Amino acid sequence: SAPLPRKTGREMSESAFVTVPEHVAIIMDGNGRWAKQRGLPRTMGHRKGVETVRETVRAAGAVGIKYLTLFAFSSENWRRPEAEVSDLLGLLKAFIRRDLAELHRQNVRIKVIGDRHSLRNDILGLLLEAEETTKDNTALTLVIAFNYGSRDEIVGRLAVASSS
Ligand code: FPP
Repeated sequence: SAPLPRKTGREMSESAFVTVPEHVAIIMDGNGRWAKQRGLPRTMGHRKGVETVRETVRAAGAVGIKYLTLFAFSSENWRRPEAEVSDLLGLLKAFIRRDLAELHRQNVRIKVIGDRHSLRNDILGLLLEAEETTKDNTALTLVIAFNYGSRDEIVGRLAVASSS
């Protein structure tokens, strides 16, 4: 039988069969390994990770993904060396300070999930501001998972159950 017609990449991406997922979730992982492979300090890996986040958010919005969830900082991550934790918190703060206006312009709605109760006031304030500013936006929803953790959640539920 005749060979199947070959399609160029462009033809494939224009095809009606290409579907865009509604929700994409990303575990931010490998920043340290990325840096190590290049003989750089871990902090450079985290900086590169934030750049990648920026590009990913832009691309997700451009192709019409509705939800992009970033698992950014787990409750286990507090156990990292203090200098690294404060570096990560600083990067998150800088990201919101620097990119919030741009994300808002791009009609991106920011939602934060994870345990907010124990967060430092400066971090919490910025996260709440990001949510409040963008709450009526209708393009991509960027879900930032911060201070999330199944372990803590299970322990938290047990505490609630045993006190009721
Ligand atoms: C994983 O790499 C990355 C993290 C634990 C933290 C990522 C969070 C930020 C860079 C803060 C900013 C967040 C946003 C949403 C802008 P790793 O250190 O576990 O790398 P490894 O697995 O190679 O050790």
